[in-house]
Amino acid sequence: MSPFLLTRTLPEDATEAALRADVLRGLTRTPKTLPPKWFYDAHGSDLFEQITELPEYYPTRAEREILIARSGEVAAATGARTLVELGSGSSDKTRHLIEALTDLRTYVPVDVSDSALTQAGQALIAERPALEVHALIADFTARMTLPDTPGPRLVAFLGGTIGNLLPVERAAFLASVRALLSPGDALLLGTDLVKDEKVLVRAYDDAAGVTAAFNKNVLTVVNRELGADFDPGAFDHVALWDAENEWIEMRLRSRTEQSVKIPSLDLAVDFAAGEELRTEVSAKFRREGVRAELSSAGLDLTHWWTDGEGRFALSLSVAR
Ligand code: SAH
Ligand code: TRP
Repeated sequence: MSPFLLTRTLPEDATEAALRADVLRGLTRTPKTLPPKWFYDAHGSDLFEQITELPEYYPTRAEREILIARSGEVAAATGARTLVELGSGSSDKTRHLIEALTDLRTYVPVDVSDSALTQAGQALIAERPALEVHALIADFTARMTLPDTPGPRLVAFLGGTIGNLLPVERAAFLASVRALLSPGDALLLGTDLVKDEKVLVRAYDDAAGVTAAFNKNVLTVVNRELGADFDPGAFDHVALWDAENEWIEMRLRSRTEQSVKIPSLDLAVDFAAGEELRTEVSAKFRREGVRAELSSAGLDLTHWWTDGEGRFALSLSVAR
């Protein structure tokens, strides 16, 4: 039996078709948008790993602190034999959880980034040769089919990535997660919390400019995949706090009036000077909101843990 299996449920041509559809839809509407999953090619995944180490970007360290303190309780509460992780990236923090889950047989990391999955999978099987790792290249916003592995099942969705979905997308996403679970199975969810605006904005607009490079990388992806001629230097990175929606919004602001050609869509996209393209939101949460959203999806909140400074929360909920 192979300890590391990589399955692609996203055919490569389907990925390109989806990118074309997203770019066409997003860049021909007002205001212009681009959906976030296209940030994560190999270079984007690499830049995200650099973001997690920035002094301003506290969520990774805060969530790691909680995982170190609470993974034993997660293990006791769930007795999970299968751990499914959505948007697993480097699986770095997940190690604390994997170590604590004494009955764990199979780990199923799910991500759109095959480079991240391959790197993470190789590292894990070197450390835990008895663990079966079944990596899945898949889009967690689409219908997912998981390998048939033993329960109880624990789904982990860390990093505050749920905040990158819009509220309507979140509801659909949580319902689809619930559909992956049997009654009694659990979801471990990482959510960044509402806090001082300055702290939030700094986390998404760091002094070294790594987040700016990450944001602009989506333009490079469109250039490479669709033959577009975006000049990333002609856009400025913008991060701002939307107090009404309680989310950070990432934008790219055109420095000049310019026209960008996208040959494979037979499209020219005109930008006015100062016009902004929305690339990502990162919603911040409160306990009662998380409880209500989970409950609407058929998940009952059983545990709520925060780091010492109350910046980030990890919650455990159980499928009804
Ligand atoms: N869980 C890691 C990584 C978070 S970054 C952490 O906490 O540090 C978000 C991850 O989700 C990236 O690895 C990205 O490739 C992945 N991702 C983003 N959108 C996705 C989608 N629609 N389907 C699957 N994976 C996605
Ligand atoms: N899930 C991460 C977050 O919302 C993703 C992220 C961090 C991100 N920094 C970013 C996405 C900058 C786009 C731009 O915190």
